[in-house]
Amino acid sequence: MSPEPQNVLDYRGDNTIFLVYNFKKDQEIGAVFQKICALVINLNNSGETRFPDSGAACVMGIGHDAWLRLGLPSPLPKELKSFEPIVGAKHTAVSTRGDLHFHLKGTSSSICYDMAAVLSQILDPVADSVVEVHGFRYWDGRSILGFVDGTENPKGAKRAFFGLIGDAEPAYKGGSYLFVQKYIHDLKAFRALPINEQEKVFGRSKQDDIEMSDEEKPSNSHIALTNVGDDQKVIRDNLPFGNMSTNEMGTYFIAYASTFSTVKKMLDNMFIGVPEGNYDRLLDFSSPKTGTLFFVPSASFLKNIASGAPALEEVSPAPGQEAGARTSSSNGSLLIGSLKK
Ligand code: HEM
Repeated sequence: MSPEPQNVLDYRGDNTIFLVYNFKKDQEIGAVFQKICALVINLNNSGETRFPDSGAACVMGIGHDAWLRLGLPSPLPKELKSFEPIVGAKHTAVSTRGDLHFHLKGTSSSICYDMAAVLSQILDPVADSVVEVHGFRYWDGRSILGFVDGTENPKGAKRAFFGLIGDAEPAYKGGSYLFVQKYIHDLKAFRALPINEQEKVFGRSKQDDIEMSDEEKPSNSHIALTNVGDDQKVIRDNLPFGNMSTNEMGTYFIAYASTFSTVKKMLDNMFIGVPEGNYDRLLDFSSPKTGTLFFVPSASFLKNIASGAPALEEVSPAPGQEAGARTSSSNGSLLIGSLKK
């Protein structure tokens, strides 16, 4: 039976809380992580039962260093590494640490709040909360810059094809790579542009969201650089956020993908440019403050951990380990990297 994925394919909810936690040093984290896996499964089951039309869901991603510290299976998902910064001539995609990522979504903010509250209760003793963003649906799905965001996302059956790992990585089938960046916009500078110039930044019209023709579309527009081909798509669940008192208006960029290399190609095009130097003009008005790669294992993987079973049914041992050997635990790892043959 194929592993059951976490809820990465549903369309983004109207309300979202994005959370990033980093484990504290010298803490026993294995038992807490096991509880969190059980809680994530519970929150999804309960959300679906109590509020069937709310799209309530909690998706958990795990960063590279946390994966190792927790003793999760080895070999790791092929592309799970710490994100390397991408340094362009003018703009940089920074890399920031992230051990666990939570994407809490639903139609009502009450559901998101309650899910965040129970997660933090369990995590607070052993982990620091380093990012918390409350995203909301802005009018008809617009970014805070006023342009509709998400139009060219894969639809229908294509979502599973582009969003979930398939037979290319059998051990991690049903999982996804998750990449996130918290962007802050210079709204004042963007709004100072006449509308037709704003449209050239994206390559689409503002009011009615129509794509420019290839002749009109500038080569440094956002969509000219991020469209890397019909066979290379990702699922974007971006939502805007805004805080008047701190003057932080932004976009939480979040993409689920069957391969991280697709996201990396888009980022290279944006920050390095095509050709080099012809970078994405959107970056003149948007700065990423975070940038982290996570892996979202299947729900079956989380259920196995919650019940104390090996996370994966079958996975080759890491170099130097014997088949069936368990990964070492010097700091509270879960001892769950073992084989179940
Ligand atoms: C400041 C952050 C960002 C904002 C406000 C933003 C906004 C938008 C908007 C308004 C569109 C046009 C409508 C649509 O198809 O969704 C778009 C398209 C797109 N964006 Fe972004 N985006 C941001 C960052 C990124 C990043 C970091 C990536 C990739 C790593 C990316 C990938 C894409 C892709 C693949 C498309 C569709 C291109 C096409 O096929 O036409 N975006 N974005």
